[in-house]
Amino acid sequence: MTSSWKKTMKIAVTGAAGQISNHLLFMLASGEVFGRNQPISLQLLGSERSREALEGVAMELEDSLYPLLASVKLGIDPHKVFEDADWALLIGAKPRGPGMERKDLLDINGQIFVEQAKALNEVASRDCKMLVVGNPCNTNALIGLHNSPDLPARNWHALTRLDENRAKCQLALKAGKFYTSVTNVCVWGNHSTTQVPDFLNAKIAGKRASNVIRDSQWLKEEFTPKVANRGGALIKKWGRSSAASTAVSIADHLRSLYVPTPAGDCFSTAVYAKGNPYGVDEDLIFSMPCRSNGDGDYEIIDDFVIDDWLAAKLKESEDELLKERDCVGHLIPGAERAVCAIVEDTMLPGEN
Ligand code: LMR
Repeated sequence: MTSSWKKTMKIAVTGAAGQISNHLLFMLASGEVFGRNQPISLQLLGSERSREALEGVAMELEDSLYPLLASVKLGIDPHKVFEDADWALLIGAKPRGPGMERKDLLDINGQIFVEQAKALNEVASRDCKMLVVGNPCNTNALIGLHNSPDLPARNWHALTRLDENRAKCQLALKAGKFYTSVTNVCVWGNHSTTQVPDFLNAKIAGKRASNVIRDSQWLKEEFTPKVANRGGALIKKWGRSSAASTAVSIADHLRSLYVPTPAGDCFSTAVYAKGNPYGVDEDLIFSMPCRSNGDGDYEIIDDFVIDDWLAAKLKESEDELLKERDCVGHLIPGAERAVCAIVEDTMLPGEN
């Protein structure tokens, strides 16, 4: 410790022996996410099956000699691993297996999030922030939120930053510009194939993206599905879900909350929609354009332009999330048990 270092931040990570974590943990420990004056403790949750692998991860972290890494704690009991956590990065979730219905996946992963949220509610720091990565992440986060009544609802996030990064990449490629010139890109809604990458409010080198890419057909009919299906396209190439780019986007997500958002820019995160200015059902975790003062908190930007096309797309994603919520009514305290009516296979980017 040097006198300029901040108080150690405790970061709990689930799915800690998995591929995403294998990239992310080293980024966190190096200081490139929270800053070179922010020591961290890693509290890693694995399963009985991954215990040995988790020990392997810890050995590699030790051998990397990161000065900012104050300690590494391993465990398989969330009540122990989440103790005093300032952040919980909830990456672990079951992938859909052969023959498994969507509602089964919602149910299986939902149960994991009930248990983890209850543990966070009991033992985490009272201002703990949660980022859900495990799919279906929006609905898992909603389940978590309703099972952690003593933690602030606004502290629950679901990751849509990967979708934002994918959208920026496609806009930059099409415009022939470097990706840093692409700003103010929000991906709205569900992290699923109904997600809505917003080219209406996006800017390229400070100009409206649609004034730089003067091809409305491409924007609506190629760009939009390409971003929404990118996870699936990647699985076809790799034979597994994105890992490195997901880890990078988690790092980007976290950094966005600790660095003030530049004027005229935004970042995407799926957050609790209560009080949102866009008329989205208030009891959903819905991705929206946000900005931060750099204090770890955020506000929803209220002046994004919504035209008829964008409004109709937002409604589709909202409807899908309402159906997902109906399917997990039994996991939400006080909710009515509703009928699970997911018909179309549109839930995860990687599953179409
Ligand atoms: C992604 O967007 O790459 C993943 O969420 C895909 C998936 O279904 O695992």
